[in-house]
Amino acid sequence: MRSPSREFVISGSIGGEELSINVCAKGSARRRFSGGRDHAVTERCNRQLRLRPRVSMVTDVDGRIALVHSARWGERLDELSAEEQAVLYELGVAEQSESELSARLGPESTLLSRLRAGGWLTVSYAYHDRVLVTVRPLGPYREPHPTGPPVEPLLSRFAVLRRDGDTLLLESPRCRAAMLVRDTEVMAVLHGLAARDPAPASTLPAPVVAEIITELAWYGFVHEAGEDDRPDLTTEQWSTHELWFHARSREGFHDYPLGATSWGAARYPPPPGRREPWPGPAVPLPTPDRTTLDGSFGAVLEARRSLRVPDGDNPLTLAQLSEFLHWSARVRWTTEASGQELTLRPSPSGGALHSLEIYPVVTSMSGLAPGMYHYDPFDHTLEPVPADPLATAQLVQRTTAATGAPPPQVLLILAARFSRVMWKYQGMAYALILKDTGALMQTMYLVATAMNLAPCAIGAGDSDLFAQATNLNPLEEASVGEFTLSSRAP
Ligand SMILES: Cc1cc2nc3c(=O)[nH]c(=O)nc-3n(C[C@H](O)[C@H](O)[C@H](O)COP(=O)(O)O)c2cc1C
Repeated sequence: MRSPSREFVISGSIGGEELSINVCAKGSARRRFSGGRDHAVTERCNRQLRLRPRVSMVTDVDGRIALVHSARWGERLDELSAEEQAVLYELGVAEQSESELSARLGPESTLLSRLRAGGWLTVSYAYHDRVLVTVRPLGPYREPHPTGPPVEPLLSRFAVLRRDGDTLLLESPRCRAAMLVRDTEVMAVLHGLAARDPAPASTLPAPVVAEIITELAWYGFVHEAGEDDRPDLTTEQWSTHELWFHARSREGFHDYPLGATSWGAARYPPPPGRREPWPGPAVPLPTPDRTTLDGSFGAVLEARRSLRVPDGDNPLTLAQLSEFLHWSARVRWTTEASGQELTLRPSPSGGALHSLEIYPVVTSMSGLAPGMYHYDPFDHTLEPVPADPLATAQLVQRTTAATGAPPPQVLLILAARFSRVMWKYQGMAYALILKDTGALMQTMYLVATAMNLAPCAIGAGDSDLFAQATNLNPLEEASVGEFTLSSRAP
């Protein structure tokens, strides 16, 4: 039974917005938060701001300033006053005190809050001479941030603390920020948040703790304690390591380097293509008699290649796409086992669960208008998806960056309905989904080759862009693979 609770308000502010947390202090087990009101203004953090690394400031011919981050995203900052431009420049050069900048800019200026929301600033929270945490955004903060911090804050179970260089880094695959924990007092705060105790054994003043919790909540490291108790398959199905792997091995939820960066080239020789032989005499294998494998299948295997350049004069036809999907992905048979619907299709699938949905994005076809569709493998139909056109165009553009070729006539996005597999399998479900993705890709390669089309698998797509395009909850259904299909250039 709950003991009678007393409420305290702890407050902080983000980007100039005042926020408050109501803390229920229960009996003597919890340390009382006296709240910001009882403390002098000096018992607040001094926030130091700086433009984050890998950001460039560019000016167009009309003198308008834009910020660009490593070519992955940018934001134009229209109509900046001379003082705002000066502040922006100074933020690029060195850390600046937020209170001093706010005083300089005056209450009308929205520059600092825009920079915070856009993910352009690292923010260090200092208390007297101690820097407590530094928040490093990992991209623009797209979701509407909470209107207020949680009443009963609890650390997300996806949050992970690890060493990065000589500091501790708090990260989560669900948060667009990394938090450098720079003082042991913050560890006490985190410990309290993990134990559902919002009044942790920290010697920091309550308003300072409040500011840190507010910041953690704003980015999603901390949420309402009750969230963990509410039944929700979409979130509960994800084990911590699986969501980490999904979010960090694809583009979208972070801006860490991803892709063929050849980082090892500067430090190590390239590993050889052929494994060093095991000792002992090797057993020679006879070359197969070509008649043992059905002639046409053998020919398809031999002919399979990744072909990236479409035949611009001959768009893929609806009949060809239909045939391609029929041979590679339609449902051939349905059954049920242990209450789950199972299907058999041309491609294999772990547990016959087939979590993968195919979303063809058409750029240039005859008989089918450009746009995003969903393939229904039961009825063998294409359903138009009311996708955001800009995000859809960006998905295609990302593909051209991955192939170094013109846009494919059709981009096939493979999205997993995670619960199909995660409802049943624990710990290995995401790996299973990726194995299914590889199997489907190979089936598609072979069908496309047999049809004399141009297929190519893509290594890394952007799950966040897919979520933006479709408005799907990325924990429920997200893109896990991409495959291009076009008519084959002669
Ligand atoms: C999982 C996977 C990811 C791939 N990613 C890309 C990619 O992002 N861009 C690209 O141009 N080719 C990609 N490819 C195609 C490979 O580059 C290609 O398979 C390889 O060069 C061998 O050529 P082949 O397929 O013609 O035999 C990918 C292939 C696979 C299987």
